Order: sequence, then C-alpha cells, then structure tokens
Amino acid sequence: MTQDTKLSLREVTASTVRTICRLEVMEHQKRFVAPNSVSIAQAYFCEEAWFRAIYHEDTPVGFLMLHEELEKGQYFLWRFMIDKEHQGKGYGKEALQLLVDRIKGMPNATGLTLSCVPSADGPEDFYKKLDFSFTGEIDVGEKVYRLDF
Ligand SMILES: CC(C)(COP(=O)(O)OP(=O)(O)OC[C@H]1O[C@@H](n2cnc3c(N)ncnc32)[C@H](O)[C@@H]1OP(=O)(O)O)[C@@H](O)C(=O)NCCC(=O)NCCS
Repeated sequence: MTQDTKLSLREVTASTVRTICRLEVMEHQKRFVAPNSVSIAQAYFCEEAWFRAIYHEDTPVGFLMLHEELEKGQYFLWRFMIDKEHQGKGYGKEALQLLVDRIKGMPNATGLTLSCVPSADGPEDFYKKLDFSFTGEIDVGEKVYRLDF
C-alpha cells in the first residue's frame, strides 16, 4: 500500500447502501459483474461473504466482495467493480492492492483467486498486469486466475 493513498475500503451502511447500489459499470461490461444490489443481497445469505465499498477520499467509486474460507485459507474475489465514471484513474489497481494487503494478514492466506468471463474487452489483461496468472482451470465458463503471495 502506498503511504499517500486516498483510497479506502469502507463498510456499507444503512445510509450509504443506496449510493453503493447506484454505482454501475459501462453497458458492455454488465456481463462481467453482477449489480452491487445483487451482490449485497447474496452476501446476506452467505457467511463467507465479505464486502466493502471503495472510496476515493469521501467519494464512493466502486465495490468489491470476497468469498473467504479462513480455515482452508481460500480467498476468492467474488465481485469487483469500479463505477464507469471513475474507471481508468488507477483506482481498480489501488483497491486490489489494498485488498491483497488485507488478505496477506488473514489466516492461512497463500494467494487470491478469481475467475473472469473470457472476452477481448473484459478485465483479463487488467489482472495480468497486476501479476495474476491463468491457472489453466475453467469454472462454469470463466477463466480462473490466481495471485500467489
Ligand atoms: C476491471 C476494472 C475493475 C479496472 O478498474 P480501473 O480502475 O478502470 O483500472 P485502473 O485504472 O486501476 O487500471 C490499472 C491498469 O490496468 C489497465 N487496465 C484497466 N482495465 C483494463 C482492461 N480491461 N484491459 C486491459 N488493461 C486494463 C490500465 O490501463 C492500467 O494500466 P497502467 O497501470 O499501465 O496505467 C474496471 O474496468 C471495471 O469495473 N470493469 C467492469 C467490471 C469487471 O469486469 N469486473 C471484474 C470482474 S472479474
């Protein structure tokens, strides 16, 4: 994590939940990630879900959600998005770094796994730039990537 970062991961609260649910990706990206409202609803029924809103200073710019199994040391990036108005500013990269820093301090953590829809205009190259590698595995049509710590 850089010392002068202005990005933070914050809990979604009763007073911010509507704003976080209004964050959205570009039209052509909607097949890569579920709406935040759906993610938060799913989290309500999943003990392993951990989610946060991504803020730049006091402006909400994105959302992420992990599926974490502490005993097994399995950390899976279930949802990740930066609002269409805030993409391309380095926030996605920095938010992922904040998340990785957090996971490194978690029990049995050896890496972070994720899967993405294979597509030329999808996020694969973004993850590759951040040192994630394709594991060779395909899970329900999605390519599985992993960053080993
Ligand atoms: C993927 C996503 C989170 C990236 O967030 P972002 O804030 O726009 O990315 P950043 O500005 O931090 O980009 C970091 C670097 O990755 C590059 N990058 C960003 N998106 C990219 C893409 N789709 N393909 C290739 N490179 C990409 C940037 O050019 C930048 O490169 P640099 O460090 O050399 O300048 C964002 O585009 C998004 O929300 N996409 C829609 C939802 C989605 O696909 N989520 C992932 C589901 S698995």
